Amino acid sequence: MSRSIGIFDSGVGGLSILKSLARKAVNENYIYLADNKNCPYGNKSEIEISKLSIKNCEKLIKLNCKMIIVACNTATTNSINILRKQFDVPIIGIEPGIKPAINYTKTKNIGVLATNKTLSSKLFNENLLTNNMNKINVHEQIGHDLVELIENGIENEEKLNEYINKYLKNMIENKIDCLVLGCTHYNFIENNIKHILGPNIKIIDTVSPVVNHVINKLSELNIQNTSRKFGSTIIYYNGNKPNKKYLNTNYKIIFDDF
Ligand code: DGL
Repeated sequence: MSRSIGIFDSGVGGLSILKSLARKAVNENYIYLADNKNCPYGNKSEIEISKLSIKNCEKLIKLNCKMIIVACNTATTNSINILRKQFDVPIIGIEPGIKPAINYTKTKNIGVLATNKTLSSKLFNENLLTNNMNKINVHEQIGHDLVELIENGIENEEKLNEYINKYLKNMIENKIDCLVLGCTHYNFIENNIKHILGPNIKIIDTVSPVVNHVINKLSELNIQNTSRKFGSTIIYYNGNKPNKKYLNTNYKIIFDDF
């Protein structure tokens, strides 16, 4: 069987990237690691996040993956440079879409909802923010407890909406006209967020640009799967079984203590 594309996240968040990619690159095989034993990453130290990311990459390399997608903003912003130094396969990460937000904003106020460690990371603050600043106010907010609620399948939607309301209140008052979703988990609550933002505030996520980048990279490196058959998807998890509302029925789900 042709080599797979490896993807990892702290849990189900990166499935938003997997699903979007698999819809476009249908003949590729995918291996997804949900490191949910260690979820959430967003409150851990940079060293801990790097160690977990290295462990995940080692597992994907052992499984003979030809490329790795870091489907987690927190892991990308805290460890992508280390991962690229340490591993030979191409590594593609996802990071908050500050550039598209800066290009879009008219009110010169943008919001960013992300995890604690994404917002405090060097990559976010030095590369993304400093290089992009154009007298634009960036209103940052940590999405406390959202990842955990999403992992648990959002049993209490009222509580979820309460959190979102609380987190977006200041941004809305500060006249943001776009909100950057800086955590792949948040794609699963996009409708709730949209509802609270209303029709005049655009949501910016980076799933599509990452998916396009992956497809271009496969072709540039000439490592696409040339099979005409539909590819397979295997999900490995190491904690509680991921909530089935996020899983497609054709996924093979395997517990593995990686
Ligand atoms: N999906 C991860 C991200 O994009 C979640 C981080 C976490 O586990 O806290 O940042």
